Amino acid sequence: MIINPFLDRGRHRDLYGRAGRLTRRTGALMRAKTSGRPVPKVIVRLLTDHRGEDAPPGLVVDIGCGRGTSSRALAEQLRPTRLIGIDLAQALLADARERAGRQRGVRAEFVQADFHQLPLAGGSAGSVVAAFCLYHSPQPERALAEIARVLAGDGLAVLVTKSLDSYREMDALVARAGLDPRAEQRESLYTAAHSGNLAGLTDTCLEVITTEHEEHRFTFDGLDHAAEYLATNPKYHLAPGLYGNPGALAKALHEALPEQSITTSSVITYVVARHRGGRP
Ligand SMILES: C[S@@+](CC[C@H](N)C(=O)[O-])C[C@H]1O[C@@H](n2cnc3c(N)ncnc32)[C@H](O)[C@@H]1O
Repeated sequence: MIINPFLDRGRHRDLYGRAGRLTRRTGALMRAKTSGRPVPKVIVRLLTDHRGEDAPPGLVVDIGCGRGTSSRALAEQLRPTRLIGIDLAQALLADARERAGRQRGVRAEFVQADFHQLPLAGGSAGSVVAAFCLYHSPQPERALAEIARVLAGDGLAVLVTKSLDSYREMDALVARAGLDPRAEQRESLYTAAHSGNLAGLTDTCLEVITTEHEEHRFTFDGLDHAAEYLATNPKYHLAPGLYGNPGALAKALHEALPEQSITTSSVITYVVARHRGGRP
């Protein structure tokens, strides 16, 4: 049986053992982006809107913080006295410390832990963010129950994910080029927690206050640019030597297809939640 690579714990080191893959993937996507608000900014706005401008954010926890992209915005814009970033990957935590750990007046810590077992006391967190990480859990309800456990009685959680059909035009490109003829039939990387089920999963342990969806659009300006992104995508069954190698992937694309730009999209979903009735 083929395991979805985003749910295969054995692939975690390949995906996040070093910062390079995530950095290259995000770089290629951000260079292609033509519409959609910056996600960290939206997260901060949702927390302030639902808490009130002047209410302190309490202990802010960024779960699956990766390289600290959201942690940095949370530290700079919410200015909590304490922020904790949690992730399984040591290499990414080191980057997060560099990028988000130096905000004056904010005590920021970046801790290695599994989000199914958070190293935090019950009811200790005023604000919890989990962006683009719950789809790595084979049991996202367990991770969400942990978030509910650590959330203070008046705390707020913001959970972020993507749609199942994100970047599907890239699948079509890979299939057309013959690099993985079944690319369009491969399971979405986001099956565990996606735009269509995240609010329902959250509702099992918290009260959903609001759900926002926003389409983000991307135009890759040619096959070289598309290859930069595709080489970081573990979804496809490519010939040996292509995954992780944008140069070889670009060459294979150019051999199979005329030069072209590729437009694709992903719906980003934000779920804001609290304890039912505002208190557990
Ligand atoms: C796509 S990255 C998202 C990073 C960051 N939140 C962002 O928005 O840029 C997913 C992150 O989830 C982390 N992760 C996956 N499974 C995890 C687990 N069981 N416990 C903690 N972190 C996990 C990975 O190490 C990775 O850093």
